[in-house]
Parts: sequence; structure tokens; C-alpha cells
Amino acid sequence: MNNPIRFGIVGCGVIAVTHADAINRLPGASLTACCDVVPDHAFAYAKRFGLDDKHVHSNLRSLLQDPSVDVVSVCTPSGTHAGIGAECLWAGKPVIVEKPMDVNLDAIALLNAAQNETGLPLAIISQHRFDAASTYARNLAIGGYLGALTLCEAQIKWFRSQEYYDSGDWRGTWELDGGGALMNQGVHTVDLMRWIMGPVHSIYASARTLAHERIEVEDAICATINFANGAIGNLIATTAVYPGFPAQLSVHGTKGSVVISGDALHSIDLIGDAPVGDEAAGLLASGIAGHAVHIAQGGTKSAETHKSVPTSASASHWGDAHQAQIADFVEAVRSGGSPLVDGKAGKEAVEIILAAYESARIGRTVVVS
Ligand SMILES: NC(=O)c1ccc[n+]([C@@H]2O[C@H](COP(=O)([O-])OP(=O)(O)OC[C@H]3O[C@@H](n4cnc5c(N)ncnc54)[C@H](O)[C@@H]3O)[C@@H](O)[C@H]2O)c1
Repeated sequence: MNNPIRFGIVGCGVIAVTHADAINRLPGASLTACCDVVPDHAFAYAKRFGLDDKHVHSNLRSLLQDPSVDVVSVCTPSGTHAGIGAECLWAGKPVIVEKPMDVNLDAIALLNAAQNETGLPLAIISQHRFDAASTYARNLAIGGYLGALTLCEAQIKWFRSQEYYDSGDWRGTWELDGGGALMNQGVHTVDLMRWIMGPVHSIYASARTLAHERIEVEDAICATINFANGAIGNLIATTAVYPGFPAQLSVHGTKGSVVISGDALHSIDLIGDAPVGDEAAGLLASGIAGHAVHIAQGGTKSAETHKSVPTSASASHWGDAHQAQIADFVEAVRSGGSPLVDGKAGKEAVEIILAAYESARIGRTVVVS
């Protein structure tokens, strides 16, 4: 058995708890140290997760000199990710950075340059790529089972209270949150959309702040998207609709459609000789939890052609996908390979979001790539 990969966490707030739980559940990993610019946050976190006081740090340099740290997990406000990530790499520590990778492309270029120079693993959290539903949808799309991709709808219709935005000085600011509903909440679905549909050519967006006070950024944005493959799509991201709904991603093609709702498959409709037999049933039964899924084949939805797949008994839990992504990062550290979501993928998601913001600002379509 290999020695565990020892993690230091930077930024001991809300999401750092999910990271600690995930790391502690992984047999090949352990949490050994933490760092926060607010010492009370670091000490409370250390106490909660049983870390020794000598491994509690109030600045990054001190954490990076801690001999108990092999790799670093960056859980600080979004606009600090790239600078901290680059420091870690330059200090010889592989790094996994929370989403979004950062909030501007210069910072992102700095982090990717540090990765290129050092050759060390760099992963960007996009945990929903590790949901079985997302992997299956992508496999259908890139395997040609949906035919030519024609349309994509991404809807992130969430609710965040005023108290949420008031809970941290950085929330809702351009400098550190980098945007609102799209940059903070929508980035997950934007990344999945890009992963499944391929590159975005151009985007036209309208953005508003409709339901919150004391924030600089949008809480509602609608965009029309032209994909490089000729497909078109739309994107809605908001934190202003009560009570909030599961994020939904619908991918449509000339031979089929797949809809993801939350972190599960909602429906698959396919025609032709597509894999709706044992392969699909096996994937669904092994990976899709807690949701009824229908598979329709042949274009008609009669009882004969409409296959029902039993739902799995085990429900997926918040934190499972983080655990799967951190396991993927640990594997990259051990093998010297690349994590699934690397700096290139992290950049691509932010590029789309920044293009949407630019379009909303100037009132015209913006070319992404
Ligand atoms: N993947 C997900 O589903 C998910 C969910 C929530 C948050 N996030 C991301 O995680 C990041 C943090 O969000 P949060 O809700 O945990 O924020 P938070 O405000 O709860 O925690 C941030 C912590 O970082 C500390 N900090 C700030 N600047 C620092 C620095 N330079 N060095 C060290 N510590 C510093 C703060 O004192 C605070 O304790 C954000 O980028 C957010 O987008 C991801």
C-alpha cells in the first residue's frame, strides 16, 4: 500500500469542509495541514478535523514549508485561486483548485504557465463531470448516438438569499467572485456543456441584477450560444428564482436527446441502433441513483418501445462527486498523468462566461474562439 498523499488546505470556509470530508474518506489520502488568513477560521477547522496546532498556518508561505504537506487544495475566494495555485506549483506542490479556475484570463494564464513550467498536476474542481449521468451523456454525444448535435439548453435556475450574499465580503463582487449567477453557480453547467457539446464559437447575452442588494454582479443572465459544430443553444443562470430548481442540461441531436437534471439522468430518447440495451441499462443501474429514467427507442413512445430502467437503491450524496474528483487528482499525482479537469478545461469554462459578460456589457455578440 502506498503512503497516503498528504493534503494542506488553503481557505478554511464552507467548501473546505467538503474537501476535508472527501479527503478523509479516501484510503490513499489524508488531511494534515490548513491555512487561512483569518486565524480563527484555521484553528476552528483544525479542531473540527483533528489537525495538530503545529500544522495550522496563517499564510501560504508557511503552509508550503510544512513538511507534512505533499499537495494543496485551494478553497479560497475565486479571484485568489490562480495566484495561490501558481505559488503552490512553484513550491513543488501539485494543486487542486476550486471552481472557477479564477475570474480573469491573465490570472488563469499565470496558473497555466506555472503548470507548464513545473509539469506538476493541476486540477480544477468541476465535480459534476464525475457524476455518472454526465459521463454517460458525453459518451452518447461523442459516440455519435445522438446523431449530429443540434441544440443544447443549460438552465441553472437557483435561489440564493440576500443573507447568502451578505455572508462574505467577497461574495457578489467583480474582483473576488468574478461575476454572479453565471460565474459562481453556473460554471459547473457551463463546463459540462462545453465538455459534451464542444467549443463555443460565439455568445450573445443579457444580464441583470433583479433580486439582491449590495452586489455588483448579475443575479440573472440569459444567453444565446453558437457552437463551433454548428449547433445552437441557450443558457440561463440565476440566483433570483424562488425556491430554485435542479440545474438542467438538455442535449439534442438528429438521432436522440439526453437530459440531465441535478446530478442524474432525467431522460434518454434515441432512435436507430443506439446502445439502449444492456450497455445503457448497466450504466444506468450502476451509476444513476434515485431518479426514474425512461429510455425511448424508435421515435415512438408506446409501451412496447419504451424501456424503463430500475432506479438504483443507493442515492448519491453531496460530496461524493468531490471525492471522485479528488481521487482522480490523487491518481494523477501518483502516476504523473493528467487529471480529468485540467487547466485548459478550467480556462475554457471561464472564457465562455467572460464572453457572456462582455456581450451583456456591449450589447453585441462576442466571439469566444
Ligand atoms: N465546487 C462547489 O460546488 C463549490 C461550492 C461552494 C464554493 N465553491 C468555491 O469555493 C471557493 C470558496 O467558497 P466558500 O463558500 O468556501 O467561501 P468562504 O468565504 O466560506 O471561505 C473562504 C475562506 O478563505 C479564507 N481566505 C480568503 N482569502 C484567503 C487567502 N488569500 N489565503 C488563505 N485563506 C483565505 C477566508 O478567510 C475564508 O475562511 C469559491 O471559489 C467558490 O466558488 C465551490
